Amino acid sequence: MIPYVPLERRPFRLHMGLRPLEPSRWLEFDEDDACVRARRASLLDQERARVVALEEAGRAPSAELLEVVLDHLARWHPERVAPVGGDHPLVEAARLVEEDLCVMVREDAWRLCAAVVCFPSRWDLRQKIGATLREIHGPVPGYEAALGDPVDAFFDRLGAARGYWRLNWTLLETPELFVPDVARTAPGGDLADWYFRVERQTFRRLPVTGAVVFTIRTYVASAAALADGDPDFVGALCDQMASAPPAIQAYKGWVGVAERLDPRRRASSPPDR
Ligand code: HEM
Repeated sequence: MIPYVPLERRPFRLHMGLRPLEPSRWLEFDEDDACVRARRASLLDQERARVVALEEAGRAPSAELLEVVLDHLARWHPERVAPVGGDHPLVEAARLVEEDLCVMVREDAWRLCAAVVCFPSRWDLRQKIGATLREIHGPVPGYEAALGDPVDAFFDRLGAARGYWRLNWTLLETPELFVPDVARTAPGGDLADWYFRVERQTFRRLPVTGAVVFTIRTYVASAAALADGDPDFVGALCDQMASAPPAIQAYKGWVGVAERLDPRRRASSPPDR
């Protein structure tokens, strides 16, 4: 099972949801470690142009990040320290961990300057490299109004002494980790065919280069298994999806999903004509 099921018990809202990060818990490892890193290695081999994006401005922060990852492993996960190869330092860092890694550099604005993202959730790294935070989030309805200024200000203020983390979730019809197809259609079938996908994201400033490291750890669980384990899961899932504004429902691929899932909603929705 997955360690986070972040279904809020109140109507859906777009929010930062940042929490202070315990230094020892920056990176998370679990029993899927070997599998996840093998999947990343094969994507690095076969899909490199889609999972790696590197700009010159990201080179020094990536080298610093590799050192920071190695120090972190030596301190908190000594059994995971492994020899480093000769690839780009960000690729070498990504080979050591389960997280995807993004490096944001402050130029005219915060821009994505280097990234290894093997497990995107319906977005294409090639369309985001070099982009500002606002440009990256262009497809997210309501981001500009609700989060544009607060996220920029958070990045400006983030200090090297304390990191932060947040969670994000959605529903997909595949357990596959590499989902770069940007189409956001609603999952077909029903609960038995669906997967609950959670991203644990962390933010840390690198002390020397001043870049911000954004990590994305992806957890996937069968929605049916989560429903079996928690009698409130389906109700909370439906409430979140149904309470999101229509533009968010369309963006997330949730249109009609709550109605299909929850007989109470089916009964109360208007009959088909
Ligand atoms: C505090 C910082 C941030 C917040 C609050 C935030 C918030 C969000 C939210 C609410 C979404 C909509 C996705 C969903 O709900 O499923 C989103 C999507 C996304 N975010 Fe962020 N985000 C942050 C930082 C970043 C950073 C640093 C990156 C750098 C790569 C990033 C990359 C993305 C991408 C690629 C998407 C998908 C956009 C698309 O559909 O094309 N986010 N973010």
